[in-house]
Amino acid sequence: MHALITGNTKILGVIADPVSQARTPAMANALLQERGLLGSFVMLPMHVPAEGYLSFFAGLRTLNNFGGAVVSMPHKIVTARLVDELTPEARLVGAVNAVRRNSDGRLIGTMLDGEGFISGLVSAGHCVTGAHILLVGAGGAASAIAFALAKHGCASLCIQNRTPETASALLARVSHAYPQMEISTEVYSNWHYDIAINATSLGMKSDDELPIAKRLIRHCDLVAECVIAPEMTNLLQEAANQGKAIHTGVPMLAAQMNLMLAFMGAE
Ligand SMILES: NC(=O)c1ccc[n+]([C@@H]2O[C@H](COP(=O)([O-])OP(=O)(O)OC[C@H]3O[C@@H](n4cnc5c(N)ncnc54)[C@H](OP(=O)(O)O)[C@@H]3O)[C@@H](O)[C@H]2O)c1
Repeated sequence: MHALITGNTKILGVIADPVSQARTPAMANALLQERGLLGSFVMLPMHVPAEGYLSFFAGLRTLNNFGGAVVSMPHKIVTARLVDELTPEARLVGAVNAVRRNSDGRLIGTMLDGEGFISGLVSAGHCVTGAHILLVGAGGAASAIAFALAKHGCASLCIQNRTPETASALLARVSHAYPQMEISTEVYSNWHYDIAINATSLGMKSDDELPIAKRLIRHCDLVAECVIAPEMTNLLQEAANQGKAIHTGVPMLAAQMNLMLAFMGAE
């Protein structure tokens, strides 16, 4: 591979903190190789903590061979304020998970998490249309998923989050865009959920608490993850132990890879 990297190689990034668990560079570089594009582009992990992000992002603007980046936790929301232009999806969600550098140096942000999540579910034979859904999390991924679920016609959506104000703010934004949607931040103990989704970062560490309580998992048919590493989180293990259907975070990422590379011009 080293012989493919030249002075003309465009650098793509995966910007996150932490980043060592990210599967995106391996998946993206494998896809680039399949397409004969590895060398024209290469994707690298970029480990950037929140406190250094503004100066890092300003520095990106000076990198003429920067092609674009996948933006991950915890930078998605702040990035929406830093790019020069947002796609309609990113504007609606208020977060960015992919950035492209245009030839004039302008940085364009888009949000593909929501459609990626739905495509991953659909590719595994699940359907969100008409489903009652519990969504845990209200960050970048959760926001994108909430709008995509509304767009695809879920029957109801309940949003839970560690910081309740963020869940309420997300509810207000989704309700504004989809006023007919049944949406709440209350979990009713006698309620049944067709799909429960973990869109928090809980599950990345082995000693993380469960993002969805064991007693609540009993009220769900399918438990779906956004967390990719580990693939089998404690939440999925608990759901499987309870005899529930499970869906890992990997199909969501796989579904997004083509969309992300296309957005960055690596087709
Ligand atoms: N499979 C994929 O393709 C894919 C794509 C995107 C994201 N993801 C994964 O989805 C997860 C969320 O990513 P994101 O980009 O949405 O991150 P984010 O914008 O930083 O949001 C993080 C979310 O997790 C919650 N959270 C963080 N620490 C918590 C804790 N200790 N207890 C309870 N809640 C906690 C936050 O709650 P507060 O609001 O209270 O802070 C927030 O709702 C990450 O694991 C990420 O890797 C996967």
